[in-house]
Amino acid sequence: MFISTKLWNNNHRPERAKPALEASLKKLQLDYVDLHLIHTPFPFQPGDEQDPRDANGNVIYDKGVTLLDTWRTLEGLVDEGKCKAIGLSDVSLEQARDIFEVARIKPAVVHVESHPYLPQWDLLEYCRKNRIVLQAFAALGHSSEPKLLEDPVITAIAKRVNKTPAQVLLAWAIQRGTALLTTSTTPSWIKENFDVSTLPQDAMREISEGIKSRVRFNAVVETGVPGFIPRGQGG
Ligand SMILES: NC(=O)c1ccc[n+]([C@@H]2O[C@H](COP(=O)([O-])OP(=O)(O)OC[C@H]3O[C@@H](n4cnc5c(N)ncnc54)[C@H](OP(=O)(O)O)[C@@H]3O)[C@@H](O)[C@H]2O)c1
Repeated sequence: MFISTKLWNNNHRPERAKPALEASLKKLQLDYVDLHLIHTPFPFQPGDEQDPRDANGNVIYDKGVTLLDTWRTLEGLVDEGKCKAIGLSDVSLEQARDIFEVARIKPAVVHVESHPYLPQWDLLEYCRKNRIVLQAFAALGHSSEPKLLEDPVITAIAKRVNKTPAQVLLAWAIQRGTALLTTSTTPSWIKENFDVSTLPQDAMREISEGIKSRVRFNAVVETGVPGFIPRGQGG
């Protein structure tokens, strides 16, 4: 097993980040985790409220700490043996680069939304060059509209290679060099998602070059507000 956890937004300040990881370790009954990620680059008001909002319902951010301050604290947690590797989540290429260039302990993982509607080629190329794992979440499009699993390019390839659309999307994610995250509560889909085969090169090209739609299902990177926001209300 490879165990990851994440630092939540209300714990970005150096004095809060260490107790936050220690609390996670206690809950997990572990001495260390394999990977610790900064959940988003948006620090929230420090305190026990995980979703601090003002009277108008807007998130209260913390301007008193930078992503680099938090990164330096996580480097210290690696030194202390509380996590083996550290990484970033929901960051842009620029934010990943800013941390990478000055980090004493380099990010091992950059965890972002990625699928054929949001391929993030530039970020993937940067990660590849710098030996960072790009971990792609929402690999199947998070069951959101427009349905990636029903994209005509994906369904046509699935028919041709005798696999399901989900298996095609997962194979594409693996073959282009990302680590992927998917979830299912449906036993037959969980089984299906492990049964992935190599796609022919022409199918890889059709997905990478033939799908032109661009959709970000999770607007956290643009808004700082976590969670999947229904289309029309967010970015
Ligand atoms: N850092 C962040 O901001 C962030 C945000 C979102 C997610 N994540 C991480 O990424 C993980 C995966 O994201 P995700 O849940 O959006 O992944 P996803 O794979 O894009 O979407 C999962 C959805 O696809 C369905 N599904 C799974 N396998 C299927 C199959 N073979 N055929 C048809 N439908 C299938 C599931 O349905 P059922 O559940 O009904 O079976 C579920 O509704 C999350 O668990 C979380 O750890 C991180």
